[in-house]
Amino acid sequence: MEIISNCTQDVIKMAARALKDGHLVAFPTETVYGLGADATNEKAVSRIYSVKGRPTDHPLIVHISSANKLDKWAVDIPEFAVKLAKKFWPGPMTLILKKSDLAKDFITGNQNTVGLRVPDQFITLAILREFEKLDGLGIAAPSANRFGAVSPTTANAVVEELGNFLNYKDLILDGGKSAIGVESSIIDCTNDYPIVLRPGAVTTEMVEKITGLKIPLDFKKSKIRTSGLLESHYSPNAKVVISKTAEPGEGFIALANIPTPPGVIRLGSPKNVEEYARIFYEALRMGDQKGLKKIKVVQPDGDGLAMAIRDRLGKSAAVKDLSDRG
Ligand code: TXA
Ligand code: MG
Repeated sequence: MEIISNCTQDVIKMAARALKDGHLVAFPTETVYGLGADATNEKAVSRIYSVKGRPTDHPLIVHISSANKLDKWAVDIPEFAVKLAKKFWPGPMTLILKKSDLAKDFITGNQNTVGLRVPDQFITLAILREFEKLDGLGIAAPSANRFGAVSPTTANAVVEELGNFLNYKDLILDGGKSAIGVESSIIDCTNDYPIVLRPGAVTTEMVEKITGLKIPLDFKKSKIRTSGLLESHYSPNAKVVISKTAEPGEGFIALANIPTPPGVIRLGSPKNVEEYARIFYEALRMGDQKGLKKIKVVQPDGDGLAMAIRDRLGKSAAVKDLSDRG
């Protein structure tokens, strides 16, 4: 496995070629780092599952270079989905649509839908375009972490997560820190109205404004499975607890205006919600690096990205509660 920080045009070509040849390439996106494979190559895609340790019935997002490629992978695309794609792509939004024949069961987890996204990161967009020049059609990529663990927002974090599982022809591209820091919003577009399955930087309010449609509050109406929707996910080794107080020796993440309790190890002091999203996963990782047993986190209030942070935080906290119960 090679880690490359200087992503020149030659490197981009090499990465596209590696994907075409069936190898894995971890790449930066504006949300989190992804672990990519040719979305039409069953063998390459199966390696994503084994490297992540992820159950094979969990579908993967197919990354494409632009909204123009939507109808290669999806059919019966509703007008409101086209509006969303035109407005928010490239960007932190995944659309769930009825799949075309190109999207095989090994991508969709045997469902009749496919998740599609155009990421907003120049290195990865360049790879997607280069990959298409080699007749590539899309790059399947989950977040580049072991199943259930914290998503990586730096190339170092990818090495930490997957370094031991990748092989010598796979690549990790370093594009610096992910600009947003939490995974894309996932919008189910298979009903008469959009449903936000996973909150992210594209918010319910933004979706309603662009589509002119009202999203029912009852998200659970959708029967779609997403691994991010499992109750426990995004978890470091430390036990994550949502709390406004902390004891000496515990880790602590809170907005900068909240003081550090005595003897507590401050892992993050973001000034606003955007910065909170950007540093949150790295702060959890730092807690593990310091060998902390417990990390207390004060949730940010409000809508939008704050909702996405609370969603991930709740799932980080859930897993350790389950393990407490044995
Ligand atoms: O920001 C992101 O979305 C990142 C970057 C790399 O693009 N990717 C990402 O992938 O977070 P992953 O696999 O870690 O999470 C994607 C979620 C999973 O929970 C998966 O189950 C769900 O999307 N998903 C993918 N295709 C789906 C489909 N057809 N129907 C329902 N859920 C789907
Ligand atoms: Mg993930």
